[in-house]
Amino acid sequence: MLRDRQITIFDTTLRDGEQTPGVSLTPQQKIDIAYQLDKLGVDIIEAGFPIASEGDRESVRSIAAAGLPSTMVCGLARVLSKDIDTCIDVGVDMVHTFVSTSDIQRIHTIKKSREEVLDMAVNAVDQIKDSGIKCMFSAMDATRTDLDYLIQIFKAVEDAKCDIINVPDTVGVMAPSGMYNLIKNINDEINIPIDTHCHNDFGLAVANSLMAVEAGASQAQVTINGLGERAGNADLAETVMSLQSIYGARTNINTEYIVETARLVERYTGIAIPAHTPVVGENAFAHESGIHTHGVLEKSDTFEPGIMTPEMVGHTRRIVLGKHAGKHAIRKSLESANLEPTDEQLNLIIERVKEIADKGKKMTDADLYAIAFAVMGKPQGKPVIDLKEVSVMTGNITTPTAVVKAIVDGEERVASDVGIGPVDAALNAVYEISGKHTGIKIHDFRIEAVTGGSDAVAEVIIGVQDERGRMVTARAANADIVLASVEALVTSINMLLQT
Ligand code: KIV
Ligand code: ZN
Repeated sequence: MLRDRQITIFDTTLRDGEQTPGVSLTPQQKIDIAYQLDKLGVDIIEAGFPIASEGDRESVRSIAAAGLPSTMVCGLARVLSKDIDTCIDVGVDMVHTFVSTSDIQRIHTIKKSREEVLDMAVNAVDQIKDSGIKCMFSAMDATRTDLDYLIQIFKAVEDAKCDIINVPDTVGVMAPSGMYNLIKNINDEINIPIDTHCHNDFGLAVANSLMAVEAGASQAQVTINGLGERAGNADLAETVMSLQSIYGARTNINTEYIVETARLVERYTGIAIPAHTPVVGENAFAHESGIHTHGVLEKSDTFEPGIMTPEMVGHTRRIVLGKHAGKHAIRKSLESANLEPTDEQLNLIIERVKEIADKGKKMTDADLYAIAFAVMGKPQGKPVIDLKEVSVMTGNITTPTAVVKAIVDGEERVASDVGIGPVDAALNAVYEISGKHTGIKIHDFRIEAVTGGSDAVAEVIIGVQDERGRMVTARAANADIVLASVEALVTSINMLLQT
């Protein structure tokens, strides 16, 4: 049914996503996200709600003026003349106008009759169309609106030459089958395209969006990392990958930028992506149990969907060395570091890995290599980078700056760099003296454990990757979080350079 159908992706990260409790983006961050969404290939960006504040207005204005090559810019407006004028004034390509249509919202919030709401909707569409720009009309709380009235208002805006209607599940109460039936009913009566905007209060936003599309909607509203009011909106990554990989539908999304985009938004909003999040989470393509890793190392489709690979979404497959790790995974990891233990040595290494894991400690590659060196009686070799000094200057009137001194390949090197915080500055400085010329990049940074009190010990795990795609993780613990981070980075770079 959906195979080969083209679905338009409308991203509202910068509008509904910014309504996530606790999230507030700077104008520069909004521009950066808009460029990233354009690179990702979303068809329409809802850049903000221009009447809401001076800041929102100017952000939408600058995103509209940026001339994004492949993305249309949309602004939100209530069905009020001043909202629509403000949207038009900031130069958007499309106005998304909305009004509450359910009795509960209509009676208790806007306090208007059904007839008044219908007139306001039609007047708003007239005003937008008279200005010559595209118009989308949303019946807010559509899924709790009387169906006859909902269809009456959609027909009225269609007659007023509205370009597209949106059916929001504003409080996320629809069951997927109910969503399918609702969109089907609307689709039978309305001839203009249908969009859907699903909230995730019961964790059904993606399922409901997919059912809406199955029933005939041609556009889906989504956000990066599922951000949005309360429990958020339908997640872009999950919606797009399901549409494409499961249903065989088409979108304009360049899926290889999905993870990159999710991480940018994670960094800017401060809302962490849980490790087990589908598609973009750290564990989305990670395998630990012996049976799974053995299978995946033979043929990745054995324990992965196959129709969605890490490469497709810009992710990487990871084999995690824990208590469930099997012989295959451990041998493979050691071989990638040019370590070839005998069967007997391998059994001993596995025993020690499991002992450590049973104590609740996470294994890094550096831990594994240290065990292997000990079991195999190999000298660990001289580190390529021998860290000598680290100093950091930070405060509220200075940009965090770090200076690092090290012997690299027998030669003394000193480098300084700045960062958004002391850890970032120190890691940038280490990167200056080491990683830069080797093409090694950090792909993972985690603070694993912090003990209580101001003298707490921080345990940092850093993963690095070289240009050949080889990855190594290392850990360091220190009461000084900057030193723990620098030590973990230097250890992981050394491991990569030595193997
Ligand atoms: O959830 C909602 O109904 C909205 C509208 C503005 C479309 O965000
Ligand atoms: Zn919403």
